[in-house]
Amino acid sequence: MTRIFPLLLATTTLLLATSSTAQSNREHPSTGLHSLFVAAGKLYFGTATETNNLDDPTYQNILSNPLEFGQQTPENSQKWGLIQPNPGDFAFNNSDLITDLSKSYNHLLRCHTLTWHSQLPPFVSASSWTPDTLRQLLTTHITAVVSHFGSACYAWDVVNEALNENGTLRSSVFLDVLGEEYIALSFNIAAGAAPPETKLYYNDFNLETSPQKQTAAVELVKSLQAQGVKIDGVGLQAHFTVGQTPSLESLTATLRRFTDLGVDVAWTELDVAHEDVENSSELAVEQQAEDYVAAVRACIEVERCVGVTVWQFTDKYSWVPGTFPGKGDACLWTADYQRKSAYWAVKGFLEGWVARMNMTGALVGGNGTGIKTVTGSKGTFVGVTSGTGRLVGSVSVGLISSCVWLALKMI
Ligand SMILES: *[C@@H]1O[C@H](CO)[C@@H](O)[C@H](O)[C@H]1NC(C)=O
Ligand SMILES: *[C@@H]1O[C@H](CO)[C@@H](O)[C@H](O)[C@H]1NC(C)=O
Ligand SMILES: *[C@@H]1O[C@H](CO)[C@@H](O)[C@H](O)[C@H]1NC(C)=O
Ligand SMILES: *[C@@H]1O[C@H](CO)[C@@H](O)[C@H](O)[C@H]1NC(C)=O
Ligand SMILES: *[C@@H]1O[C@H](CO)[C@@H](O)[C@H](O)[C@H]1NC(C)=O
Repeated sequence: MTRIFPLLLATTTLLLATSSTAQSNREHPSTGLHSLFVAAGKLYFGTATETNNLDDPTYQNILSNPLEFGQQTPENSQKWGLIQPNPGDFAFNNSDLITDLSKSYNHLLRCHTLTWHSQLPPFVSASSWTPDTLRQLLTTHITAVVSHFGSACYAWDVVNEALNENGTLRSSVFLDVLGEEYIALSFNIAAGAAPPETKLYYNDFNLETSPQKQTAAVELVKSLQAQGVKIDGVGLQAHFTVGQTPSLESLTATLRRFTDLGVDVAWTELDVAHEDVENSSELAVEQQAEDYVAAVRACIEVERCVGVTVWQFTDKYSWVPGTFPGKGDACLWTADYQRKSAYWAVKGFLEGWVARMNMTGALVGGNGTGIKTVTGSKGTFVGVTSGTGRLVGSVSVGLISSCVWLALKMI
């Protein structure tokens, strides 16, 4: 654990490298959430999107900004009910528009989702299946869909939301007819149809907040691995509520439980909703900003966390108010496309992190007992190292956001 004790030199503004204020960041239009996240070592900062946003020029302007976004997930159009509404009747027209969009914006595409209990067409949910006919149905569906998108998909959420809050497997047509085997089966069919580089994910919600569900998901991954099933990642949806978002420590511990199993992780559907939009206070606005920063920071601190996807970036298209009346205001941009405090806080945090990372990166080269001076991209860095070459602490002097600062860092 690293602690930073900043002292200030000759400036008017107090600035902590880890939590900078809003004002400083508006001065850097040349950076954005994705560009900073990539500079911090991550693969993407992305968003859910859908075809109903295609004719919204302001939306597309922000989505296509390569500084802000590097990934998208179709919110609905790859779900079973829309993509195979009737037996053998595959409707790829909507989802193909998203695929084309992601290609034209040079975005990674997380594909979503293959086997899920919800948004199923009646022919799947209301028919009576035998294990054999249901296995055949899953094979036909997953093979057709995965083959259709091929290498356009960076990742697939193969199985979505298979667990109850108490850690048991959720009842669904798949579980009820096939038992637990449907999960491994879905992964195996997907692996057989997808290019080998496609990342296959298990995706679920409340893994961050429900200990029993989290443990069950860990056991599920272990069980798939023990069966030799290809599983590359766990997607944690991260649908949070302002003030009820787990702490940074808790979020990193959650992510590490999965990365310890040798799989990637990602926040796949991040949003932080106000419980009661009508009555939300100024305090809640700041709390939302802190909650977003905690999630983004947890992903940075866990090496195998590859990226963050927000579940829409603007309240204009957020699913929250429609699903949970009274809740909302969950996104980084308002419904009329103003950046919120939460946006500025995330960006400010990332700017501070990347700047500090560059300096500490330079310092790691120091060796032997004594004081080393390294000039990095952000100023001169003075390091204190022990006789074994281990870095025991450092003093840095640098320039971040037009602010000269001095920090004592102990390791
Ligand atoms: C795709 O096809 C469906 C079914 O034919 C239709 O309802 C929908 O409007 C089409 N979407 C687009 C974007 O053309
Ligand atoms: C777990 O939760 C499910 C869904 O709410 C419920 O049907 C089941 O009875 C619960 N099982 C136990 C052991 O509590
Ligand atoms: C806001 O708070 C007031 C007072 O507690 C309450 O009467 C009202 O129902 C709340 N509004 C909403 C949307 O819950
Ligand atoms: C950090 O270093 C990288 C690589 O040298 C550079 O591209 C980037 O602009 C630097 N970022 C900051 C904030 O200094
Ligand atoms: C630091 O010193 C140790 C011990 O002498 C040596 O093994 C190591 O290679 C040195 N590292 C650098 C970066 O010079």
